[in-house]
Amino acid sequence: MNKVFGSWWKKDNNSATELQGSENIPRHVAIIMDGNGRWARKLGLPRIVGHRNGMKAVKRATTAADEIGISILTLYAFSTENWKRPKEEVDFLMSLPQEFLALELEELIQKNVQVRMMGHTDRLPGHTIAAMEEAIERTKNNTGLILNFALNYGSHREITESVKQIAREVQAGKLDPEAITQELIGSRLLSGDLPDPDLLIRTGGELRLSNFMLWQTAYSELWFTEQYWPEFGREQLFAAVAEYQKRTRRYGGLS
Ligand code: FPP
Repeated sequence: MNKVFGSWWKKDNNSATELQGSENIPRHVAIIMDGNGRWARKLGLPRIVGHRNGMKAVKRATTAADEIGISILTLYAFSTENWKRPKEEVDFLMSLPQEFLALELEELIQKNVQVRMMGHTDRLPGHTIAAMEEAIERTKNNTGLILNFALNYGSHREITESVKQIAREVQAGKLDPEAITQELIGSRLLSGDLPDPDLLIRTGGELRLSNFMLWQTAYSELWFTEQYWPEFGREQLFAAVAEYQKRTRRYGGLS
């Protein structure tokens, strides 16, 4: 693992970027995987081919994250708004977790990766839930990289449901309104015990958060690339991390 530090270079507009050693690697990296459709269109291919190649990029990102010691990789695989897409595309997207895990679960287990899911299970097809549950169960005792799939995830619904739950507890006399702290709200979100993302990456050139981890990314460092998700791999992850390593995080204070 150590040999990648200080020896990995990315050429960017004729300037070279080096991963700045093993210091200051983000603990939690979250990625908005955008641009599958445009990547496919660019090549004259159906959108679903873009999504299938997006699945291959998931493997590359996971391998690279593991290689440099990132602890948590959260991937926005399907949003609460993605149900608006044509049924065939939704069905295809819902088949990908199963397909990915059929191909990769044994290797993930071998690499000590712990699979998790963050999202609302109500509209997910049984086969998608079954594949995720099997992976979660079989990797629950693993202590390496946490690979967290955001599936049927949306911050507005996540926050709304957590507020409702807190209100119910107050109404039932189980929770004192004065005990509602920032930490309590954070712990009631779908991300639960995970620390907030240190670095948020979005591919595909759009500069927005699209209802993704709105509470949790309050102080995340943001990194955007024009490249489409199926083009993402080790080089792009390392470029984002190298940029992160140069940033000073002040959380509203002074450095
Ligand atoms: C956004 O691109 C991408 C998605 C809505 C789906 C993301 C899913 C994957 C990358 C595969 C997930 C794999 C696993 C294993 C769960 P878009 O289709 O909106 O692209 P566009 O903006 O170019 O149309």
